[in-house]
Amino acid sequence: MSASRRHLEGLPLVRPTSPAWARVAAANLDALLADHAHCELKAASMALSLAGRHCDRADLVRRMTSLAHEELRHFERVRRLLAERGRGLPRMQADPYVVRLRQALRSGSDPLTGQLLACLFVEARSCERFRILAEERRVPPALRALYRELASAEARHHEVFLRLAVAETGEERARRLVEAAAEREAEIARELPVEPRMH
Ligand SMILES: [Fe+2]
Ligand SMILES: [Fe+2]
Repeated sequence: MSASRRHLEGLPLVRPTSPAWARVAAANLDALLADHAHCELKAASMALSLAGRHCDRADLVRRMTSLAHEELRHFERVRRLLAERGRGLPRMQADPYVVRLRQALRSGSDPLTGQLLACLFVEARSCERFRILAEERRVPPALRALYRELASAEARHHEVFLRLAVAETGEERARRLVEAAAEREAEIARELPVEPRMH
C-alpha cells in the first residue's frame, strides 16, 4: 500500500492530501504550529457550543464536554511548544476549509447532523495530516512523536462524531451522508491553496 493510501486507513476521506503540503508544512513549522494551536482551541469551542445547543442529549453533552477538555489540553501543549520556539500565539485567522465544509454539509440534512459531519471530517483530515507529519523526515523527531500521538486522538475523535451522527440519523442514512460528504470534502481540500495550515 502506498504511503498516501496508508495515511487514509480507517478514515472516510476519499482523496489524500497533496504531497506538496508536507514540504510546505515542514518548511514553515512556526506558521503550522500557530494554525494548529488555533485549530485545537476552535475544536474545544465547537464541542462546547454543540453541548450547549443540544443540552437535552445526555450522550452528546458527555462526549462533547470530554472532547473539549482533551482539545484544550492539546491547545496548551501546542501553545507551550510555540513559546519554547520563542513564538507567541498570533491572531486567529479565518479557516476557509472549515467555513466551506460547514456550508457544504449544511444542506441536505438536518442542522445537527450536518454539523456532526463537518466536525467528523475536520477530525479525519487532521488525522491524515498528523500521520503525514509524523513520518515527515524534515520535521524534528520530538514534534513527529507529538504528531503521532495526535493522529491517534483525531482518529478517535472522528469516530465520536460518527457515532453521534449514527445516533442522530440511523446507520444506513449516516453511511450515505458520510459517503456524499467525503466527495464534497475532497473537492474543498483540493481547491484550497497549499499552505502551512492544518487544513
Ligand atoms: Fe486535538
Ligand atoms: Fe480532535
